[in-house]
Amino acid sequence: MPTYRIAPSILSADFARLGEEVRNVVRDGADIIHFDVMDNHYVPNLTIGPLVCEAIRPHVQVPIDVHLMVKPVDRIIPDFAKAGANIITFHPEASDHVDRSLQLIRDNGCKAGLVFNPATPLSYLDYVMDKIDIILIMSVNPGFGGQSFIPEALKKIAEARQRIDASGREIMLEVDGGIKIDNIAAAAKAGADTFVAGSAIFGKPDYKAVIDAMRTQLATI
Ligand code: DX5
Ligand code: ZN
Repeated sequence: MPTYRIAPSILSADFARLGEEVRNVVRDGADIIHFDVMDNHYVPNLTIGPLVCEAIRPHVQVPIDVHLMVKPVDRIIPDFAKAGANIITFHPEASDHVDRSLQLIRDNGCKAGLVFNPATPLSYLDYVMDKIDIILIMSVNPGFGGQSFIPEALKKIAEARQRIDASGREIMLEVDGGIKIDNIAAAAKAGADTFVAGSAIFGKPDYKAVIDAMRTQLATI
């Protein structure tokens, strides 16, 4: 069985109690904290920046996975690295120089990855696989939590898995958007190993019950 990781998205957390929220979700089994950065430009919503990353950093030991939904990309990368991010991903359409942005993330000591919107082709990976540590497949259009999973994403996860296997490199394959207890197994069967879930976890009273139920589903594969 592959190593499966659950990455709760704090987008659905209680922002007035964020330190407590991330501590609780890690105590209840989260492997990664997923951190959604939106700029009201690349996506039609505005969320959180490096200051908030820095603020939650002392509260958890697990990796912080910064998902940049911002344009331009490069200027903000060193700020997130300094704020304690471990993984930084961005949307290739938001960078004029994708190879340079990936290298910049790595030069700042973080794992680097590309994010693919539902209609974005995986061909952006063609010449940069050697600089990729993580591929993030969006199963909703970016900008908001609580949207429904787009089933076409399963095909793209499977295609990304083929590319990773062909590369022979260790690359995480993450899926983001509409992940729930009842569809996490399908995403894993398609080849995902890292699962972002916002409203499925932070929207519920018992985080441990949801995370345990997700792991039970993953154990059936
Ligand atoms: C959407 C974000 C997601 C979102 C997931 O743009 O990238 O990380 O928070 O939320 P749910 O799990 O509620 O779809
Ligand atoms: Zn995200």
